[in-house]
Amino acid sequence: MKLAARLDHIDPFYVMECAKAAAEIARGPLCDPTQGGRRMIYLNIGEPDFTAPPPVQAAAQAAIEAGRTQYTDALGLLALRRSISGWYASRFGVAVDPGRIIITAGASAALQLACLALFEAGDEVLMPDPSYPCNRHFVAAAGARALGLPAGPQARFQLDAQSVRQAWTPRTRGVVLASPSNPTGTSIAAPTLTAIVEQVRARGGVTLVDEIYLGLSYDEQFAHTALALGDDVISVNSFSKYFSMTGWRLGWLVVPPALVAPIEKLQQNLFICASTVAQQAALACFEPESLAEYERRRAAFKARRDLVVPALNAMGLTVHGRPARGDAAPEHSVGVSFRGLTSAEFGHSSRTLIHWVGTNPRLQRLSFTACDGPFSGARLPLPPRRKPPRFSIPRLRPRWWWILPTHLVVGTRLLRRTLTQSPGNRPPPLVT
Ligand SMILES: Cc1ncc(COP(=O)(O)O)c(C=O)c1O
Repeated sequence: MKLAARLDHIDPFYVMECAKAAAEIARGPLCDPTQGGRRMIYLNIGEPDFTAPPPVQAAAQAAIEAGRTQYTDALGLLALRRSISGWYASRFGVAVDPGRIIITAGASAALQLACLALFEAGDEVLMPDPSYPCNRHFVAAAGARALGLPAGPQARFQLDAQSVRQAWTPRTRGVVLASPSNPTGTSIAAPTLTAIVEQVRARGGVTLVDEIYLGLSYDEQFAHTALALGDDVISVNSFSKYFSMTGWRLGWLVVPPALVAPIEKLQQNLFICASTVAQQAALACFEPESLAEYERRRAAFKARRDLVVPALNAMGLTVHGRPARGDAAPEHSVGVSFRGLTSAEFGHSSRTLIHWVGTNPRLQRLSFTACDGPFSGARLPLPPRRKPPRFSIPRLRPRWWWILPTHLVVGTRLLRRTLTQSPGNRPPPLVT
């Protein structure tokens, strides 16, 4: 079977590959208590360990029982679009016309719709490197090319106006940013974002900001939406993270008025609409009881970050963007850098390590994820809240603190040597 050439430009999403490998081990005897196994600790994927709060669950059940499960309008339930508009006003002090809000199947569908509507073959799109790896694949799926501009710790791993100006060519159609970013957790400073938007606007381009983690900003100076900068800025958001609804597949897109009808047309054809049950449930996200719960969770995530970041730094795993300066870490994870591996090697090794750890009864079950890009780094989800004593830093020390340095710092040399020494554990060739 001949596959479409666009697939050559789309790599696997290694996070999902890691999750698959971890789930395989979790199903096996090593994690089966009836066979003497122990529960797996999942540190591999960016999901809140919280789930939708009770009012949201009840709203989903009520919608199902009442049979409110038919397709909705392609743009989504008007009541939900109005609630989101109200949230922008109350939380961020920004007026957003509900007519510009399009409900989607997660931020993923929002990014896909936006890229399909805006980019085509021959176009280039600028984004920081490191970025959320799927972003360049959304661009590739639209036939265009993503150009990752190296963005280091000094630039908070974000683009700035100068790098945008320098990289802009006649083929450039715009920029895709994320604030707070995944994998680095750093937010873009308001003046920097304003300057970028001005540069892009002056060149007739489009600024798309993924704000999926905005609700989880921990410092007011970064809790600003790009939508405040004008109706021409596009924002992607989601119910996955702050609203703890990853598997419900619900998000939204805020677009300039002129883009509503084109995206509605795409949505009608590609998705018809986002899940009706999820939309009905999400209405309850904006009830006072739910919002209060989400704020409690935000505080819990912040407390976890403040516990883990100094500990990682003390281990020599540099966490860029110090919490003291108010950086927001994406949901319950932080970015760390490590030595001796490229990110592709790290991505590969982490999958290999999952198998190694998982099949070695002397080790704790451990899985984690790597980011993609020229900056070697890993994104470590913070420990789940339900077992604080088990995951607290003093308890980590004897258990898996030594595993992290083994993997992260000693790097390929030791890892490869260790793996290749045991014949049954030889790692497959590196995927680069
Ligand atoms: C930066 C970023 N954008 C988009 C997504 C996709 O999220 P959703 O579950 O809303 O599709 C993720 C998921 O982790 C993400 O981290």
